[in-house]
Amino acid sequence: PAPLRLGIAGLGTVGIGVVRIIQAHADLLSARAGRPVRITAICARDRKKNRDADLSGYDWVDCATDLARRDDVDVVVELIGGDEGIARQAVELALDNGKDVVTANKALLAIHGQALAERAEAKGRLIRFEAAVAGGIPVIKTMTESLAGNRIRRVMGVMNGTCNYILTRMQSGGLPYAAVFEEARKLGYLEADPTLDVGGIDASHKLAILASIAFGTRIAFDGVEIEGIERVSIDDINRAADMGYRIKLLGVAQMTGRGLEQRMSPCLVPADSPLGQLEGGTNMVVIEGDAVGQIVLRGAGAGAGPTASAVMSDIIEIARGVRLPVFGQPAGSLARTQPARTAVP
Ligand code: NDP
Ligand code: HSE
Repeated sequence: PAPLRLGIAGLGTVGIGVVRIIQAHADLLSARAGRPVRITAICARDRKKNRDADLSGYDWVDCATDLARRDDVDVVVELIGGDEGIARQAVELALDNGKDVVTANKALLAIHGQALAERAEAKGRLIRFEAAVAGGIPVIKTMTESLAGNRIRRVMGVMNGTCNYILTRMQSGGLPYAAVFEEARKLGYLEADPTLDVGGIDASHKLAILASIAFGTRIAFDGVEIEGIERVSIDDINRAADMGYRIKLLGVAQMTGRGLEQRMSPCLVPADSPLGQLEGGTNMVVIEGDAVGQIVLRGAGAGAGPTASAVMSDIIEIARGVRLPVFGQPAGSLARTQPARTAVP
């Protein structure tokens, strides 16, 4: 069978993670996908950077949009980041040129996901984004496939590894903010602009994407009430611990009679609860469905291996020829919703 040919845009934490999986598991992937999965072309900003990986077998292109123009690329894998600029251009051009797209870019999706999904549908292409929400946790496929028979009542959880890492290390290690921030950077958790992490924006991008899938509504990032962790002090953390609580950046989305409620904010959770015990870069997503009840998904929410694992699940799905609608239903059928700016319990 013909190989699935990939053009990888972005060779940072996640991009190199994907290259490593493809190189390490070529036979396994080929068996699972039913055809070889090959990288043909790659792109990043700095050609001379040492990336600690063998990239000699791939064509280097100077601009990510060039990947979208190549005849020997079937899927553009966008791992650059950012809601505008080259990432958006590369994705749009790829769809227009008849390529499928896999991306981990939640910022792009939270702002332009509706338009991109409609563009993909109009062109008969796919845009898949399992890695965009909660890193290695397969939350999107769980919602769109495994829970497809449920009406979702509520989705909530801890969706930013950086914030969880900072909050838990400050608490358990008694370490200052600056030191744990640096640890998170070394682990590859941070966004290129880390204010997105600590400001709660990144987690809100993810919550808005999940809410759209959960409730069949257009992504409403503007409707998320957001408070980050910048104002959480070591005193707050210690006082909460004295009372038997932990502070977590918790996101909650639910549909009410007044519209869609979405909130991201630091919350007190009991120290001995599953959320309270969530450590390091771990994420937890809790989904409540009318038939299934409560589902709890927990795992690494950031970092090279976990995120690349999620990217690979999309690549393999495309290689297998699976063409499910990206938001669980056609993007054109997603409802417009009124954000309800009322406190979520
Ligand atoms: P990095 O900053 O580590 O890597 C970004 C890559 O994009 C780098 O290789 C960089 O090139 C390249 N790049 C930047 N600008 C351009 C440009 N103009 N043209 C071509 N390439 C460019 O980011 P991550 O790997 O951490 O993240 C990538 C995406 O994955 C983001 O959307 C992020 O939000 C998302 N994500 C990240 C996770 C994580 O744990 N890190 C988890 C889930 C999602 P160069 O190396 O030369 O500078
Ligand atoms: N910066 C993000 C986080 C990466 O810390 O969770 C994963 O999306």
